[in-house]
Formats: sequence, C-alpha cells, structure tokens
Amino acid sequence: MLQLGVNIDHVATLRQARYKSGQDGMSPEPDPVAAAAEAEAVGAHGITVHLREDRRHIQDSDVHTLRKTIRTRLNLEMADVPEIVAIAEALKPDEVCIVPERRAEVTTEGGLNVTVKSLPRTIARLRNAGIVVSLFIAPNLKQVRAAAAAGAQFIELHTGAYANARDNTTELKRLVSAAELAHGLGLRVNAGHGLNYRNITGTFAVPHMETLNIGHSIVSRAVFVGLRQAVAEMLAAMKGYPG
Ligand code: PXP
Repeated sequence: MLQLGVNIDHVATLRQARYKSGQDGMSPEPDPVAAAAEAEAVGAHGITVHLREDRRHIQDSDVHTLRKTIRTRLNLEMADVPEIVAIAEALKPDEVCIVPERRAEVTTEGGLNVTVKSLPRTIARLRNAGIVVSLFIAPNLKQVRAAAAAGAQFIELHTGAYANARDNTTELKRLVSAAELAHGLGLRVNAGHGLNYRNITGTFAVPHMETLNIGHSIVSRAVFVGLRQAVAEMLAAMKGYPG
C-alpha cells in the first residue's frame, strides 16, 4: 500500500511569518507539532520536516518535540552539511532524506548531485546511527546508479518537473525508468515534490513506490477544509495505486 508522509514545513512557514523569535507572552501559532498529531489522527503514515540551514520554517525545537511526540515515522529532510548531520545523528529520526539546499531557492528546486565526494561518508555515518537514508534525486539514471553506489537504502524521486510540465508524458517516462532501475539495483523508492490532488493519479504509472511525501498542496487545502480532511482526502486519492 502506498504510504503518505505529510510534510508540515508550511505550517511552520505560516508561524514564522509572525513569530520569528518567540516573543514573550505570545503563543506561536500554528504549531507544526499539533499539525503532525492531526495528520496522524486520520492515518498519515509519517511526518516529514526539512530542517534548513537558514531555519526559515522548521526550528530545532520542532524536530526535538516531534521526535518525542509523533507515533508514526519521522523523516528529516536535510542538506549534507556538518551542523545538520550532527543534529540528525543525535536526534535519530527514523529516516533522513538528503536534499540539495540553496539559500535563494523558494523550495528544494533540483535533485541532489550524488556524485559529490562527501556523500558516501555522510550516508555511512547516518546508517551507523541506525537511521534509514534516502537521497532526493531527479529521475536521472546516472544519479540512480550513483545513489546505489553511495550506499543509500532509498531514493526519493523528485516529481517537480512532472508536476510543472504542461505535457508530462516525458517526465512520467523518466520517473518510470528511474524507479525500475532503482528497484533492479536494490534501492527502495519514494517520491515527492509538487504533488497535488489532481496530478497524483498520473504517478500511479510509476512502479515500486512506497511513500509519497506531500506538503504544500495538503497545507493549502487545509486552509479551507481543515488538516484532518485534507490529509484524509489525499489518502483516499492514493488508494488507486496498483503497488
Ligand atoms: N520531498 C522533498 C525531498 C522535499 O524537499 C519537499 C519539499 O520540502 C517535498 C517532498 C514536498 O513537496 P511539496 O511541498 O511540493 O509537496
């Protein structure tokens, strides 16, 4: 069964728009930790957060509280930089997804370049800490092979180009080929970025997917229907995946 990891970064984005530094006497809202509980209450299989170097949305205190409170799986998205790797080692999320990070980007815009030399060492460190390691990559066969060689257990296929394409046939073919190759190399496959209630069914052509990590569309829909319903609707939309 296809699983849903709910990315709650944008709940923190809304909080940070007003509460930058925990002013006295204020109760910062909305609380991403409470959002995680809401998502879990209706069946989300995991909670995903990106602790960025610039701390633009999720804060260190959020990940520490989430580690203690969530009952499903904590997936920490992070850049391969010493400060955050050390935090992950101590925090022990269930899974880490290593992503590229650029200060100027609005969101994680591209996939990781897995051929970077430091990556196998970081992967080994995190795996030694008992953390499952995933790499966020574009559906590019060279990157899939490099992910397997670098020692990752999962790849997360970047679905952003698929989501943005007017005609997504070519992007879908890329995702299918990348998933097939990954599976053949013994890698497990997740996917995410830019997925929404409309484009999700198109991804059902991609084989071997285990978890979809989805954030922006769920939090956007939650503004109108509430987070529980928004998550429940996404779970219902995912039911048709043939597996
Ligand atoms: N997966 C990864 C690795 C991401 O970086 C993001 C964005 O933070 C997502 C999934 C979720 O993307 P979206 O918010 O577009 O659903």
